[in-house]
Amino acid sequence: MTSLRRHLLLWLLPLYVLSAAAAMFVSYQRYNSSISAFMDGQMHNLAESYARELAASPTLPTLRMLDEDHVEHDGTPIVQLWRDGQLLASSWPKPALGLRPEAGFHSVSIAGHGWRLYTAPASPVSVQIAQSNAFRQRVILHSAEYSAVPIAVLVPLSAALLWLAVYFGLRPLARLVRAVTQQDERSLAELPLTGVPQELLPLLTAVNALLSRLRRAFDSQQLFVQDAAHELRTPLMALMLQAEGLRNRFGTTADEELVRLEAGIRRLHRLVEQMLKLARQQAAPPGSATAAVELLPLLQEVVGDLLPLAEQRNIDVGFSAALPLSVRGDADALRSIFDNLLDNAVRHTPAGGSVDIALHGSAGAVLVEFADTGPGVAPELLERVFDRFYRSAGATSTGSGLGLAIARSAAERTAARIELLNRADSPGLLARVHLPGAA
Ligand SMILES: Nc1ncnc2c1ncn2[C@@H]1O[C@H](COP(=O)(O)OP(=O)(O)OP(=O)(O)O)[C@@H](O)[C@H]1O
Ligand SMILES: [Mg+2]
Repeated sequence: MTSLRRHLLLWLLPLYVLSAAAAMFVSYQRYNSSISAFMDGQMHNLAESYARELAASPTLPTLRMLDEDHVEHDGTPIVQLWRDGQLLASSWPKPALGLRPEAGFHSVSIAGHGWRLYTAPASPVSVQIAQSNAFRQRVILHSAEYSAVPIAVLVPLSAALLWLAVYFGLRPLARLVRAVTQQDERSLAELPLTGVPQELLPLLTAVNALLSRLRRAFDSQQLFVQDAAHELRTPLMALMLQAEGLRNRFGTTADEELVRLEAGIRRLHRLVEQMLKLARQQAAPPGSATAAVELLPLLQEVVGDLLPLAEQRNIDVGFSAALPLSVRGDADALRSIFDNLLDNAVRHTPAGGSVDIALHGSAGAVLVEFADTGPGVAPELLERVFDRFYRSAGATSTGSGLGLAIARSAAERTAARIELLNRADSPGLLARVHLPGAA
């Protein structure tokens, strides 16, 4: 995988180092030429002044004797006076430096040591000035080093600045990643364009256009499911009534097949109802109808609606609530959660069992529990049962497999969390709804 940051740094850092090296090289070259020219000028002036002195008086001037330290360390030029190839006087005791026949500057190497020489034209005494090349190189290197220090310091500093610039430059990308991660199929909001680098704008505009097309596609799909379920309800209800009428007409002599037909239609009717509820639940935007909701009356209503089924199945429904509690949420969504959990407890518990509803409240959080005496759910399926149309293999009742999907979808809308666990004290399922308190 290519990283934009690494890519940028991999290109820019060597470029920085190369430019710094080039800057150092160029500054060395410039010092070399300017310092050499300056020192050459000094040698020339020195030779000229001796030549003028000699022209004014024929007596040879006294030359101060130099040692290694003067020549190599201080760079003091050596003066030699020659006539007809004979050395008349020299400030350097060593004999090696011979007279160059041609006047002008020369760079020579004598016994492995480099010298810069200037020979003035003979008149008739020749003046020759010599300076150690090692000294001249040292001076040039020192000067170049002085100018290289800021460059050397600036390279890591600018590399760090570069890293920061790349880091901050790419920060809008991290923001975008966060915005995209927060999206799901129900909230396909457009990605924010503020603070986005210009280069990313075309991409984002295209993504936003795609998102809005997707949103429209999702909406129309959801609408279609809603409309289809809605349209199916009426004819199914009519069919159910007709089947019921037929069965009533035949009374106890009703054919087994007729009973099965009626049960099939009921199941179909339930499926359509549940599909419609799920589609509505998913279509509603989260947090749209948040208000303080009293839990006690709401739960009483839910229990009241399911009592006929519970009585029919001979299930004892118990309800214990210590205090009246209220939560902040969407009453419809909460009702849908409780409806489906209680419906499951009543439907999936064998006849003669019991369901206990408990309402607990603690600091800032409320817990509603539905405990039944049914078969429970295999631990590995506790998450799967929330999938749409999923019904565990041993499920006795004829449900549509949508109840928990509806409950979870409703829970997402109202900041609730549903937790399913098998009871520890006896067989049965414990469905818990965690709700934020009203405070
Ligand atoms: N209280 C429970 N006890 C035992 N099994 C349960 C319980 N609640 C849910 N289940 C299992 O989870 C499955 C999925 O539940 P869900 O409510 O989604 O669908 P359903 O009850 O089968 O159908 P629907 O609720 O749509 O009519 C159920 O088929 C059942 O196997
Ligand atoms: Mg159910």
